[in-house]
Amino acid sequence: MYQCESTMPALLAPDRYTTESAHTHDVEQLRTRTWQLVAAASQLAKPGDYVALTRLNVHLLIRNHGGELVAVRNACAHRQCELVEVGVGHREEFKCGYHGWCYGSDGRTRKLPVSKDFPGLDRETYRLDVFPIRRIGELIFVRLDPNDADATEMSAGVASDFDDLDRWQDWSDEFAARCDSDRWQLIMNEEIRFDCNWKVALEGSLEGYHLEEVHPHTFGAAPDEADVDHKLYESGTTLETVARNDSWMTKMEIWLAKQSVGSHDPTYRHVHVFPCVTGAFQDSASLIYQFYPLSPNRSAMIALGFGRRANRAGAYGKMLSRFRGWGAAALTRRLIAEDGAIFPKVQRGMEGHPNGNRIFGRCEERLDAFHRHWVATEAMQRAVQ
Ligand code: FES
Ligand SMILES: [Fe+2]
Repeated sequence: MYQCESTMPALLAPDRYTTESAHTHDVEQLRTRTWQLVAAASQLAKPGDYVALTRLNVHLLIRNHGGELVAVRNACAHRQCELVEVGVGHREEFKCGYHGWCYGSDGRTRKLPVSKDFPGLDRETYRLDVFPIRRIGELIFVRLDPNDADATEMSAGVASDFDDLDRWQDWSDEFAARCDSDRWQLIMNEEIRFDCNWKVALEGSLEGYHLEEVHPHTFGAAPDEADVDHKLYESGTTLETVARNDSWMTKMEIWLAKQSVGSHDPTYRHVHVFPCVTGAFQDSASLIYQFYPLSPNRSAMIALGFGRRANRAGAYGKMLSRFRGWGAAALTRRLIAEDGAIFPKVQRGMEGHPNGNRIFGRCEERLDAFHRHWVATEAMQRAVQ
């Protein structure tokens, strides 16, 4: 069932999706108030493993430093040389390749070649910025504000008024269980780009109203209201339904599930943690996305997918579960490609009519909940200016 009784005019006007000022606002809010999903724990399993990326204009290096996960700015404290190139890799030493400065997990310099040439060096000023990092199951999140005391003291439960620390306390157990390495294995880990504002892509994932038009062969018609349960919380929203169709893909999925884990649960649950993380949880796979802006009309999402591990039938069960995971990842890529073809049209429509009106039906009430949340960030920003 839906929660709202009536249609809802969209609270965010099209110009919040098209202008440089809206983009600047969004980047600032996301950078200072959210945890950013940056990697899967299995990418950082061994000491020396690292992941380097740019997120919201911040150059990040996440590294397994002797068993401890650390996140630092990917720029040397000497003359700002990039410490590693963007990508995934392994390096025994935490060392800059230009003049050989070495660092510890706290971002402070350790060994400096010819250190006598740097008399009186202030090692507190000339060090790497360190970012708060946290792990939820197999998901590694980083906070992009190096001066965020609230985030650093997360374990003490400190949170500011409009911070997503509280939000994650509501959802972290569910997300951890949905990718726990005893039951799930990584089947997908990629960045997917869209030619639209990040909110267009996010909103596209929050409703099933477009299924019949955009995904006629992959999903088909959206379920009726009687078969859907929406819940709206302060920290996010959920949709739950039971997949009911008798396509050959569904029959194959049920067969694979019974062979590899002994049962099949048809429940589909979609979770949106405000503002920009979503989880699509079903029996075969957990798909966890985080959306972020690249420019007013370009965006990306990190997409981590976890497939269910087999718990029976030995090597045969493992082979079937790999096939099941491969099928889930292939279907996901196809759905994303179908969405990615319509999103630029939404973007262009809004660019051509920045003051146009938009309306949400009751089935789109999760978009209204997101708008209420995001409008509040603008009010917050005005309040602190
Ligand atoms: S720039 Fe890194 S050691 Fe010189
Ligand atoms: Fe879609």
